[in-house]
Amino acid sequence: MGDRPLLNRRLAGHGSTIFAEMSALAVKTGAINLGQGFPDTDGPEEVREAAVRALRDGRGNQYPPGPGVPELRAAIAAHQQRFYGLDFDPDSEILVTAGATEAIAASMLALLEPGDEVIAFEPFYDSYAASIAMAGATRVPLTLRAPDFRPDLDRLRDAITPRTRLLLLNSPHNPTGMVLTREEALALAEIAVAHDLLVVTDEVYEHLVFEGEHIPLISLPGMRERTVSISSAGKTFSFTGWKVGWVTACPALVAAVRTAKQYLTFVSAGPFQYAVAEALALPDSYFTGFREDLRGKRDLLAAGLARAGFAVHRPQGTYFITTDVSPLGEKDGVAFCLALPERCGVVAVPNSVFHDDPEAGRTQVRFAFCKRHETLTDAAERLAGLGR
Ligand SMILES: Cc1ncc(COP(=O)(O)O)c(C=O)c1O
Repeated sequence: MGDRPLLNRRLAGHGSTIFAEMSALAVKTGAINLGQGFPDTDGPEEVREAAVRALRDGRGNQYPPGPGVPELRAAIAAHQQRFYGLDFDPDSEILVTAGATEAIAASMLALLEPGDEVIAFEPFYDSYAASIAMAGATRVPLTLRAPDFRPDLDRLRDAITPRTRLLLLNSPHNPTGMVLTREEALALAEIAVAHDLLVVTDEVYEHLVFEGEHIPLISLPGMRERTVSISSAGKTFSFTGWKVGWVTACPALVAAVRTAKQYLTFVSAGPFQYAVAEALALPDSYFTGFREDLRGKRDLLAAGLARAGFAVHRPQGTYFITTDVSPLGEKDGVAFCLALPERCGVVAVPNSVFHDDPEAGRTQVRFAFCKRHETLTDAAERLAGLGR
């Protein structure tokens, strides 16, 4: 094997993530884990029961159809119509994937050539960098800067080169909580059309918008034929372990993404697909109730963090709060997060790990609030000790 590194050079530098290190610290110290973004309670009982029923009835226990079970594709089409007035043909314009993560990876593998450039909001959700790298393409960050993390559209225009192939956009945005306004969404669409770019939109937090509204870019003029819209059941229904995601796009884009996807997993999560079909058909009250519950949790943790002395960037969406630790006399988010479990029994994640330019997020730290009220109250009390 010689001296050649075992890991493919495209994946060099994408080894271990901060999450593994922080979660290990959480276990070792018994700290409250507000690092990773998963809820500490499961989603609706009837949806869980629907999965049990599917398992017992033998629905999805063998390979489901490659594009996803028809019931789920029909439910995704109905969801897009109900919430956004968008029409998608379940047979040619919808593809079920192993979570949004596979949809992102398959989109990058399908749509990019080596040497292509992908512009994405920085801080990035961590799978973007790896997926772009696996496709042999280059990521170009468009940094969202504190305090309000708005995308700088002039910088975006400057960043576009003849090699730019694709915009990878995420709104509501993890980890900053930024939600694109209609004006920003329209401007992004105009730029994509003017430069004839493909657009991939990660919309997994579509139902967690507290201020403003979620606008699927695919609904805007000139975007239908160039946009791959991605979402997932994990966040909306609090079943992150089921890994049921989907792509909605025009037939040519769905066919391209499906080509890559079929050789990644081919299919996944058979019985869960039937359960998610039922989840997507829940009444509007489920979706508003979910959002309002998380709004309360946002406010609870934001108040606790402010009391503890953090500068709090109140998120407009998602279930994350980005804070700044400078007012606590801290200079480095990584060092702060590594010490935090011992100092007060809470785990958080430094935003700098989501940046190509760590300076841009040096003093920012992210907390997840998709946890029970008691957990958040307890965490806030523990954090209050920091300032003392
Ligand atoms: C922005 C974003 N996209 C995608 C995902 C992953 O979604 P899934 O679990 O459906 O693969 C996450 C999970 O944290 C996320 O925050």
